[in-house]
Amino acid sequence: MNDSPPITAEIRERLIAAACAARPNAYAPYSRFMVGAALLADDGRIYTGVNVENASYGLAVCAERNAIGALALAGGRRVLAVAVCTSNGVTPCGACRQVLSEFAPEEGEVPVWIVDGAGDVREMTLAALLPDDFGARHLR
Ligand code: THU
Repeated sequence: MNDSPPITAEIRERLIAAACAARPNAYAPYSRFMVGAALLADDGRIYTGVNVENASYGLAVCAERNAIGALALAGGRRVLAVAVCTSNGVTPCGACRQVLSEFAPEEGEVPVWIVDGAGDVREMTLAALLPDDFGARHLR
C-alpha cells in the first residue's frame, strides 16, 4: 500500500533546489567534484547531503549516502524521490544506488532528478538505475 502524498511539481522543484543549494558545501578539495543530494522522505521532509572527502582518498563519502545518513538520523525510513546536483549532470555511483534502494518503498517508482550546472534536469528512476537489485526481501 502506498499512502504517501503525491509528489507535486512544487515538491520536485523544492527537492532540486535543495540539492543545488547544498552543493556548495561539498568538501571536495581533492577531486574538486562537488555534489549535492536531496531526498524526499515519506514524512514530507527533505534531507540533504554533500560529498565529504579525506586526505586518505578512499574514505570519501558521496553526497547521496550522507543524505541517507541525515534521513536515518531523523528517523526517516523511506525515500520517495531523489535529486542530485553536479556540474555535469552525472548519475549516482553504484554504491549509492544500492544504499538508496535500501530505503525505497517496496512498491512504486522512485524518481531521481539529475541536475547539471546549467540547471537542466533529467528524470530517471531508481529501478532504472539499479535493475534487479538485491534487497531485504532476498533474505526472508
Ligand atoms: N561522488 C558523489 O558524491 N556521488 C556520486 O554518486 C558519485 C561521486 C563524489 C565522491 C567524490 O567525493 C567525488 O564525487 C569524486 O568521485
